[in-house]
Amino acid sequence: MGTDAGPRLLVVGASSGIGRATARAAWDAGWRVAVAARRAEPLAEVVQDRPAGSALALVGDAAADGVAASFAAQADEVWGGLDAVLYCAAVTHLAPLEAMSSADWSRLFASNTVGAAHVAAATLPLLHRSGGRFAALSSDSVDAPLEGLLAYSVTKAALNHLLATLGVEFPGVPVTRIVIGPTTTDLAAAWDPALMGAYFERWIATGWFDEVTPQPVEVPAAAIVRRWLEAPATDLAPVLDLSVLSRPGAATESARE
Ligand SMILES: NC(=O)c1ccc[n+]([C@@H]2O[C@H](COP(=O)([O-])OP(=O)(O)OC[C@H]3O[C@@H](n4cnc5c(N)ncnc54)[C@H](OP(=O)(O)O)[C@@H]3O)[C@@H](O)[C@H]2O)c1
Repeated sequence: MGTDAGPRLLVVGASSGIGRATARAAWDAGWRVAVAARRAEPLAEVVQDRPAGSALALVGDAAADGVAASFAAQADEVWGGLDAVLYCAAVTHLAPLEAMSSADWSRLFASNTVGAAHVAAATLPLLHRSGGRFAALSSDSVDAPLEGLLAYSVTKAALNHLLATLGVEFPGVPVTRIVIGPTTTDLAAAWDPALMGAYFERWIATGWFDEVTPQPVEVPAAAIVRRWLEAPATDLAPVLDLSVLSRPGAATESARE
């Protein structure tokens, strides 16, 4: 695939984890990929060694005013538009509900919900023009919240509702909620180790881990590329549940890769 050809994908939240792995899988499949996140250094590492013309690094906080619009404008200027947008950005905070400050709530809503709204507002007109598609990564913890992570589940529930209602303002662009299950990433890197140990004991006692096998990032990334990014438009559904990949015992053959 030539460096100035190939369909165009924007991944927001691609400096690490599932977003970075999905960007890599999309490059391997011949896409041009713009990767966005707040930290410049890891983003520079993600795009290094990619052929010129196939990679764009866009630094910024998706939840800040004007930043998502600037991501969209840069992709439009360099590539003449976008064919797919994947919102992967999120943060977590492990704490009992009574310890969550207003600043903690705002930080979670900013990355997990508001950023997705800004990115949708900025990119859905481009996707409408190109016949493209939009998706965001949500979590199976919305329906099965864990003690200590209620705020995360609440902000992801708000994201789910955002995705389900985007068609009111932007009809015609397929929007998909991609449900992710436990995956080995940096999402929990900032958790307090002592608190984490205590919560893990309680989660284990509830049986939550009994059927869970956290997956390496390449597993959901490959599924996102095959079952959303490269799926025929007629096959796109409002929800793509990939959480079964992290529960191999519960997955049906058709649900697995
Ligand atoms: N890992 C799991 O077990 C799991 C389970 C269910 C769902 N998910 C979902 O999967 C998605 C990816 O998470 P992950 O596990 O891969 O975690 P991760 O490695 O921490 O990735 C999160 C990404 O979001 C970026 N980000 C956060 N806030 C941002 C903002 N305001 N603006 C721009 N970028 C922002 C981070 O980069 P910067 O810090 O550089 O901005 C990072 O690249 C998330 O939506 C998460 O909720 C993960």
